[in-house]
Amino acid sequence: MATQDDLKRMAAHKALELVPHGEYIGVGTGSTVKYFIEALAASAKDIKGAVSTSSSTSALLRQHGIAEVGLNEVNGLALYVDGADEINHSLQMIKGGGGALLNEKIVASASRQFVCIADESKYVARLGKFPLPVEVIEHARSLVSRQLLKLGGEPELRIGVKTDNGHQIVDVSGLNLDQPMSMEDAINHIPGVVENGIFARRPADVLVLARAGGVELVY
Ligand code: A5P
Repeated sequence: MATQDDLKRMAAHKALELVPHGEYIGVGTGSTVKYFIEALAASAKDIKGAVSTSSSTSALLRQHGIAEVGLNEVNGLALYVDGADEINHSLQMIKGGGGALLNEKIVASASRQFVCIADESKYVARLGKFPLPVEVIEHARSLVSRQLLKLGGEPELRIGVKTDNGHQIVDVSGLNLDQPMSMEDAINHIPGVVENGIFARRPADVLVLARAGGVELVY
């Protein structure tokens, strides 16, 4: 039987088919993306370079000899490839389990196409079982947490974690995410919030979904 890692690897390999030759692409963060980077390095795809979303992804790109380029050096990206913690049938996501949500949202917004790679455990009818990561300015953490309580969530500081951009993360359980776009906006309007992990304003364009029976593309 295929393990979750097998499924992640299958999705990552399939996504290679969507990568155009001779373009800059964005690369997300996480264990599924790690398989994508390995597959990309082993393939004959001649991308011009990759914009990274985290120090861990930059290290993997270096390790596999893939040229990294800064977002300021390119005029948009053809494609962005990343995993998700949850993705619904409208291809809206919760991201940030790996703590890279801010750079992920920036790079995704710079990309013409967002390809989400995921195993079937991530594909859900309803977002919100996975606690929502919210990146906060450190000294505003308690203030933001009180506002998150008012929105119906239970905030919990991710202890000992600082993001690549020097902020803290609060993971919020129990939020009603049935209107993901308005919740994305509402949380981002709290002073002290840097970004939150709802990707509803910038959903994926295609989901490469790996199930035990095979990989399918969901649009
Ligand atoms: C990183 O901050 C996240 O958004 C990841 O994309 C997400 O957590 C998926 O990670 P895995 O591929 O490790 O499940």
